[in-house]
Amino acid sequence: MLLIRGARQLLTLRGPWPRRGQALTELGIIEDGAVLVAGDRIHSVGPTRRVENLKEARGAEVFEATGKVVMPGFVDSHTHFLFPSARLGDFERRIEGAGYLDVGGSGGGIHSTVHVLRRTSPRALENTALRRLDQFARCGTTTVEGKSGYGLNPVAEVKSLRVMQKVDGRPIEVVRTFLGAHVPGPEWENNPDGYLRQVIEEMLPVVRRRRLAEFCDAWCDPGAFTAAQCRRVLVAARDLGMRLKLHAEQLGTSGAVGLAIELGAISIDHLERLKGDDLDALARSDTIATLLPGSVFYQGEQGYAPARRLISRGAAVALATDFNPGTSPTLNMQMILALACTQMKMTPAESISAATINGAAALGRADRLGSLEPGKSADLILLDAGDYREAAYYYGMNLCLRAMKRGQWIH
Ligand code: NIG
Ligand code: FE
Repeated sequence: MLLIRGARQLLTLRGPWPRRGQALTELGIIEDGAVLVAGDRIHSVGPTRRVENLKEARGAEVFEATGKVVMPGFVDSHTHFLFPSARLGDFERRIEGAGYLDVGGSGGGIHSTVHVLRRTSPRALENTALRRLDQFARCGTTTVEGKSGYGLNPVAEVKSLRVMQKVDGRPIEVVRTFLGAHVPGPEWENNPDGYLRQVIEEMLPVVRRRRLAEFCDAWCDPGAFTAAQCRRVLVAARDLGMRLKLHAEQLGTSGAVGLAIELGAISIDHLERLKGDDLDALARSDTIATLLPGSVFYQGEQGYAPARRLISRGAAVALATDFNPGTSPTLNMQMILALACTQMKMTPAESISAATINGAAALGRADRLGSLEPGKSADLILLDAGDYREAAYYYGMNLCLRAMKRGQWIH
């Protein structure tokens, strides 16, 4: 038993999910709060005076959180963390004014990452992944989703997913998504439909048979795939029993929102170019709108996703880093909170709900993750702050002092 006591603010995030509208602002704050951890789970949560007097708390190891914020670990529900190396040449070319698709056409872009990943051994990829998972933990992320999509052939896609399977829990939880339909592989640039046939006929069945991924994602945008093409992949994945996600409305408007809703996708992500009718339909649906302001910020753009309108229409909004080498090289969810507040005008409270309980909902894990409630996984963080709003206010900083996953301190 471990008793974490005396937190100035204990953010429980208790209650139903996913959070929408006004509920996004309700963090379930307990002042002078305590959490009693039993093994890998939360036993009880409440005011310190009550929790420390429980008979189960007798003899518990005590951790003093005096003056600090304790809250659920961040659930980063959209990343491409398994990439072999930075794209620094692209970085400089983008600074000089090249567009995202321009750098792809001149030897950079996703395909340059694909070439390197294919040549990188599973062992080396594993080491890179472990370093990054440790960095996530230090920044307070206790669960991360990771996508394939830098292999783009059967061997390299399977390799990527196996490496993510191998690093799961070391130390944070890794949720795997198959993104074979990221862009057509380099061999298929003039034949995207041929590539998709390979995704559907050769990759998906192996991914499913070996339980390599729980979710299937596809990128629906100019430069990637059309809604009709994404539909083929997603229907095939759904028929194999996989749950669906979509990348969409990042570079253009594609018709993907209707597709996501029709197929019951758990989330649709990006949405910078979301249009009015789609916005209303999405807000009324069960599909979570996952916003990724890091990719807009890094690219020096102004067109953030319409978070305020989504929230006021009742959409379930989540926030994630989109950690990847081309559009969002950050894995710090605290930076994403800052961008959500300053650029998309979400409130600090809304941003925290979107980065915890709604992130968990976007991964189908809100029954176990994303809030501090009895019976849930003991995934929590301690911030060097006395008020939760500081997490979004001190941008570019890391306030995370400690992180716990399944009852173990991992940072
Ligand atoms: O989420 N949108 C598609 N994929 C990534 C970019 C990947 C890359 O450039 O390496 C994204 O922004
Ligand atoms: Fe992405």
